Amino acid sequence: MIKIKSSREIELMRKTCALAASTLTYIEPFIKPGVSTEEINKLCHDYITKHDAYPSPLNYHGFPKSVCTSPNEVICHGIPSEDVILKDGDILNIDVTTYLNKFHGDTNKTFLVGNVDPKIKKLVEVTYKCMREAIKTVKHGSRVGDIGAIIQEIAESQGYSVVEEYCGHGIGREFHEDPQIVHVGTKGKGLIFKKGMTFTIEPMINLGTRECDLQKDKWTVLTKDRLWSAQFEHTILVTDVGSEILTLRPEEDENF
Ligand code: MF3
Ligand code: CO
Ligand code: CO
Repeated sequence: MIKIKSSREIELMRKTCALAASTLTYIEPFIKPGVSTEEINKLCHDYITKHDAYPSPLNYHGFPKSVCTSPNEVICHGIPSEDVILKDGDILNIDVTTYLNKFHGDTNKTFLVGNVDPKIKKLVEVTYKCMREAIKTVKHGSRVGDIGAIIQEIAESQGYSVVEEYCGHGIGREFHEDPQIVHVGTKGKGLIFKKGMTFTIEPMINLGTRECDLQKDKWTVLTKDRLWSAQFEHTILVTDVGSEILTLRPEEDENF
């Protein structure tokens, strides 16, 4: 069942999403060679709880930490660890979800650590473009297939692949609500969006194969070929004329 948010609920979504976004802004200066992903987890946890919110991933279906940290060949759901230490040339996705006033806000960004190979930098930039162009397709009356089609078109034209096993999702009082937002598809097909829906778009784009390899910890998802993967995520609100990015950060161009 897809929940259409009332104006009161939308105001609360704005608040939790703003906090999730500001957590990414807060953590950025700490992302440097020598830092462990557990240190990043602790800093994000403290920031979120100091703002009277709860980090949604913590204990979610048994997830043991407060954010997901996914470096390099990790597609998603990486578990922060003292043993994972960032080095020059790495990329790191940090996925933040906050629970504030009974509503979840979900956003992630792939950060560059020091000097990153131009080929990898391009993967990160194209992945961001996939997310932003997909967001632009959304308005009252548009379809979920429009999202997948544009992501596939942009990623595949560069020789990249789109992960299919993990999807965007409705979000609100629940972390993961209906509908599922698949990142591949056909323009003009699938569910029709209505104003007042809130959901995430969070494409995972791989340099090589789209195939995934779930680790024994039951969370960490690697690329099967161990080539690198990037991801960006925003929570958006469907409006009459388009959509509003509820997790937009000041550094981002509103009119991308
Ligand atoms: N934040 C992730 C998403 O975008 C979900 C993480 S689930 C967790 O949907 F348990 F790994 F935190
Ligand atoms: Co999400
Ligand atoms: Co997320």
